[in-house]
Amino acid sequence: MPTLFDPIQLGDIHCANRIFMAPMTRSRANENDAPSAMNVEYYAQRASAGLIITEGVYPSFDGKGYVRTPGIVTDAQVKGWASVVQAVHAKGGKIVMQLMHCGRVASAHNKPDGSRTLAPSAIKAEGEMYTDAAGMVPFEEPEAMTLTDIKQTVQDFREAARKAVAAGCDGVELHCTSGYLPAQFLSTGTNKRSDEYGGSLENRLRFVIEVLDAITQEVGAGRVGIRICPGNPFNDLSDDNPEETFRALIKIINPMRLAYLHVIRMKAGVDNIALASEFDGPVILNDSYDLERGNRALAAEQADAISFGRHYISNPNLVEKFKLDQELTKPNYKLMYTPGPEGYIDY
Ligand SMILES: Cc1cc2nc3c(=O)[nH]c(=O)nc-3n(C[C@H](O)[C@H](O)[C@H](O)COP(=O)(O)O)c2cc1C
Repeated sequence: MPTLFDPIQLGDIHCANRIFMAPMTRSRANENDAPSAMNVEYYAQRASAGLIITEGVYPSFDGKGYVRTPGIVTDAQVKGWASVVQAVHAKGGKIVMQLMHCGRVASAHNKPDGSRTLAPSAIKAEGEMYTDAAGMVPFEEPEAMTLTDIKQTVQDFREAARKAVAAGCDGVELHCTSGYLPAQFLSTGTNKRSDEYGGSLENRLRFVIEVLDAITQEVGAGRVGIRICPGNPFNDLSDDNPEETFRALIKIINPMRLAYLHVIRMKAGVDNIALASEFDGPVILNDSYDLERGNRALAAEQADAISFGRHYISNPNLVEKFKLDQELTKPNYKLMYTPGPEGYIDY
């Protein structure tokens, strides 16, 4: 029976251990939304993880939602990510880029001039988000995407995957939960379309499948993962039957032979661990694990690897600490999203 310290192959990606770093937005990109030397240092410090999944990275300017988040659109951004990847690889680590299109979870204050806020339907999310320019502001009212917008967005994901791998990334992960664009298409509360991208379950699945088809064609299925959390209500997301939606998604993606399925478990509602067992390939589980609980999930064959979020903020050497059974440092929550090195590269 493997433990978290054993290596694992995820599609084309060989990982030295099964202790992964979960994707975490830290709002510390530079003025061009590109990684800086500070970001290089942050990821290099965490390179002993079996796999680093980067913070959410926008695949197009329209896809940006949050303040000071990085993209993979411009040459400067590709160059910045290449420096990150080089530093991680130099220390023997592996890194995949999480592609995150926020859709309607956005504020114009946080986005480059001229970009749009798009969603399957013109339904504003309830809630607010932080901007440097105006503090907390309500979410933007999105434009309903035209068929041309949908085609373009699929193409944007394809290009982003190509650029991520060109920058040296070992793969990409499609962010398909937490109320962002792919999840907005899947869910009945956010998708009220009457064309082939809305209505029936088959139609609601179409956008995500087209994006996965595009990025797997571009970089190979063995370099593509997907992150889900059926039933996740974050960012005002709601679906009449998330279990049915995601069971259908898993059934469709099984023959694609993706590198992995990354699943956030839920404390109540949908049993995401049971759903994850319907995936034919490697499963990464997440949320509130520690070494012991992670090893138990592996022993129970619920997971092949575990991703750790908050522990990785404040324990860059998490693998070594787990090995030596050392006490973990707690993160400073006040410094999660603040610019600058404090609470970022000083743990
Ligand atoms: C500061 C912070 C930023 C996050 N940003 C992202 C993100 O960009 N993409 C994503 O999929 N999840 C994001 N998450 C969720 C984490 O990946 C993870 O699911 C969560 O922290 C639970 O895992 P944990 O209990 O090991 O911390 C974020 C979490 C935190 C704490």
